[in-house]
Amino acid sequence: MADWLPIAAISECPPGKSLERVVGERIVALANVDGVWHAIDGLCPHQGGPLGTGKLCGAVLTCPWHGWQFDMPSGRHRLSATVIQPRFDVREAEGSVLIRVEGGSPVELPPASPTPSGGTTA
Ligand code: FES
Repeated sequence: MADWLPIAAISECPPGKSLERVVGERIVALANVDGVWHAIDGLCPHQGGPLGTGKLCGAVLTCPWHGWQFDMPSGRHRLSATVIQPRFDVREAEGSVLIRVEGGSPVELPPASPTPSGGTTA
């Protein structure tokens, strides 16, 4: 059964930013695209680069190692239609961003702090 697990405080990932989290045995790339959350498998299918630490431009996340680019809402590679990263459902609750995963374990979050609104659910 899939569980909703907190992976970040909303304040950690403002609009236009992405981050990487390890959830159980998965690496997740979380992005705040103009206030809408998206999460995809964070292990780049090219050579295993850390997608979550890449550059987010609009809805496109670029792998920091060799530049493969992924559309966050769909998980699709920008040039190869057959390369699609698995996506995760994302929502907000009580200052945290949660994703739905099978068999994950919670990520330890920093203490909550008052911040401006960081986004909405996808
Ligand atoms: S490892 Fe991501 S582009 Fe090469």
